[in-house]
Amino acid sequence: MPIAPRPATPDPSPGPQHIAIIMDGNGRWAKSRGLPRIAGHRRGADAVRKVIRGAGELGIPVLTLFAFSTENWTRPADEVSDLMGLLRHYLRNELEELGRNGARLRVIGDRDRLAKDIQKDISDAETRTRANTRIDVNICINYGARDEILRATRNLARKVAAGELAVEKIDEATFERELLTAGVPDPDLLIRTSGEQRISNFLLWQCAYAELVFVDTLWPDFGKEHLEKAIAEFRKRERRYGGVGA
Ligand code: IPE
Ligand code: IPE
Ligand code: MG
Repeated sequence: MPIAPRPATPDPSPGPQHIAIIMDGNGRWAKSRGLPRIAGHRRGADAVRKVIRGAGELGIPVLTLFAFSTENWTRPADEVSDLMGLLRHYLRNELEELGRNGARLRVIGDRDRLAKDIQKDISDAETRTRANTRIDVNICINYGARDEILRATRNLARKVAAGELAVEKIDEATFERELLTAGVPDPDLLIRTSGEQRISNFLLWQCAYAELVFVDTLWPDFGKEHLEKAIAEFRKRERRYGGVGA
């Protein structure tokens, strides 16, 4: 019996189920055009719209976008305030578009440091998109993985001190329940745009076994076709989780 030829590329594995993206390069996009950084952030928000739509069309169930880190407060005050303005605008004007895409929004991060009106816009946006079922879109705002891990640790320590939890009972599942991403599956694929090859304090616990794809495209230029390329790259990878593989 003839031996069937090997396919040129491995069979596409199902997934990814969850794509996380470090949306980087807005400032450089603007600078290369002689524009102020905020112009890059505005175009970045347009890319967010395109990518949410594209991910929905590609059948990706969960998309997590890093929009503002706990370290981004160290930027010049006018840039921070421009970014907060853009966030306000997004939360107030994007709900219909999110609805059209069947996107359920969740904001991940420490909300306490955000302006009160933004905190309210966030909870309104989450409530108003709650019934959408096509794609879960998590936007990370004032998010830092170390901060998240420390909070989880403090919460568990409090429970132990109060006699509610035995130290021996702290396992991965217990710990995950204390993270801001509780209930969200770990990302399978982490994409970073703009050519930078680092994690920058994003989902350190959750990306333990994520496949990393770094692309040179600046975030404002990123669209569905780039997402498809990154997914194709992901499907070529063999995930071994410390084992020996196929
Ligand atoms: C990403 O673009 C957006 C945020 C971090 C808020 P940058 O603003 O970091 O753009 P570059 O890295 O300066 O080009
Ligand atoms: C990471 O980008 C944070 C976001 C995309 C929100 P940065 O531009 O802040 O990261 P570094 O400073 O280059 O590591
Ligand atoms: Mg950057």
